[in-house]
Amino acid sequence: MEAKASAPGKVILFGEHAVVYGRPAIAVPVKGVRAWAKVEDSPGQTLIRALDIGKEFSLSEAPPDDPLRLAVELTLNFLEFPRATGFTITITSEIPIARGLGSGAAVSTAIVRALASYFGRELAPDEVSAIVYEVEKIYHGTPSGIDNTVIAYESPVFFIKNQKPVLFKAQKPFNIIIGDTGISSSTKEVVLWVRKRWEENKPWHEKLFDRIGEIVLSGRKAAEEGDLKRMGELMDENHRLLVELGVSCPELDHLVEAAKRAGALGAKLSGAGWGGNIIALVEEESIVQVSEALKEAGAVAILASMV
Ligand code: MEV
Repeated sequence: MEAKASAPGKVILFGEHAVVYGRPAIAVPVKGVRAWAKVEDSPGQTLIRALDIGKEFSLSEAPPDDPLRLAVELTLNFLEFPRATGFTITITSEIPIARGLGSGAAVSTAIVRALASYFGRELAPDEVSAIVYEVEKIYHGTPSGIDNTVIAYESPVFFIKNQKPVLFKAQKPFNIIIGDTGISSSTKEVVLWVRKRWEENKPWHEKLFDRIGEIVLSGRKAAEEGDLKRMGELMDENHRLLVELGVSCPELDHLVEAAKRAGALGAKLSGAGWGGNIIALVEEESIVQVSEALKEAGAVAILASMV
């Protein structure tokens, strides 16, 4: 018996960090890059193989907080420990790690879906998302839950922590270009740093998060009305606030400026910051120009995605 499943990457369009503090955010799947999981019989042993990242271990030998082990165990738990003589899960992923593209949540989502399917079950997106959120919490500290939600639903989402996500639809498709600084950054570390600073000065941070929250609401309206120019302006404004928050870095700012100079309607860092990716909103005719400009400005990878 064999079962396979996959899950996409993601980017945050508006609202990262503020979303951890109860403000709304908008995230969209990036379907051009995916994580895959395959489950097949292997009588007598239960193995996890993620050869891309040099991991191969039997389930019981993995460190208890290993995210792959957690995803498997939490899924088996959810499925009420179905009987099996042993299986091997093989994981592969095209999603760059630690770049704000949700690679961890995508790998967990692929594992949950493939395992459920191996045991003859099809889980609803909210069930998948809830299991992956448990992995994220153990592994990432205090995530808002937006990554597991957008990836499990594989749809643009308007998200507020602890609320049912609103599946979100833009009036017309739009193009984003994702530019990678090549710098790895740990979401957990950046989120923890922001929390420390928030504890030191709550009023200042709450005000900034309110302003980001307003941008998210206006961004949703602009997307629903198909007003790309306005969306671009709001992305620029969101980036400025993330700079103020202290989560940007010179390389991110440099790519944002390069995209803007080349004709992007708006650009911002996306995800936790301190590295990872920027996203630029572009009209069809400037895709090539903005991609070239990002390459010249030092982006190590470029991905165009239609939302
Ligand atoms: C990470 O994709 C987005 C952050 O807001 C963290 C979170 O929401 O869990 C930085």
